Amino acid sequence: LRFFDLSTCLKGKKALVTAGGTQEPIDPVRYLGNRSSGRMGYAVAQALQEAGAETILVSAPTDLPVPQGVTRVSVQTALQMRDEVLARFTDVDIIVKAAAVADYRPAVQAEQKIKKDGSGRTLELVPNPDILAELGQKKTAQVLIGFAAETENLLANAQGKMQRKNVDLLVANDVTKEGAGFGSPTNIVSFLFPDGRKIDFPQMSKLEVARHLVKEIVNLLGMNVK
Ligand code: CTP
Ligand code: CA
Repeated sequence: LRFFDLSTCLKGKKALVTAGGTQEPIDPVRYLGNRSSGRMGYAVAQALQEAGAETILVSAPTDLPVPQGVTRVSVQTALQMRDEVLARFTDVDIIVKAAAVADYRPAVQAEQKIKKDGSGRTLELVPNPDILAELGQKKTAQVLIGFAAETENLLANAQGKMQRKNVDLLVANDVTKEGAGFGSPTNIVSFLFPDGRKIDFPQMSKLEVARHLVKEIVNLLGMNVK
């Protein structure tokens, strides 16, 4: 059993957290979005900051206040998020990618509001870069944490993502469960590790999940304190 002083254990460390759902513009008044509230990522930023880490939150649009002591960088699209993350990535020790990044964006953004004409319409999409996978390729000493939101085959899908993206810890959640996932103040998660370890947590607040995550981050950094 180990005890952590959660107010100082990450002193001197720098953390980068992404949060929220990216918005991919279709025209000046419309976008493609998703149901992410940003709450999980904001809770992680708060918990890291409370543990003493200098914390930057690269955030897609949300209604949430910035946690005290955290610096927020606001973005709208996946491409903007990628730029802001890559610009800071070599400078940080911890990266937590809680954002719901749009996998696709409209191939073109109309300059004027698209008018209806009574006929059907097809929206052409192109893939966005996978920011987490890119970080997994580039990482050196950083601790890299990913999230996986699934609606089926939770473990198999999450394990695949962990390997593909080369993360040190993957937080898996079944977003179809009551009390978990998008918009909920609580979450039901499992932590998966590349060595096959798995920790299942009961339903708890997103801030409690975030604090458990901070403990694991401390372990992964090899900064265990008795
Ligand atoms: N992610 C990312 N960039 C993307 C898509 C996802 O950085 N373009 C990150 C998310 O922030 C999250 C993790 O990858 O930490 C998993 O996201 P998820 O949407 O669950 O997985 P995908 O790999 O996009 O697979 P799919 O949506 O097909 O399940
Ligand atoms: Ca995705």
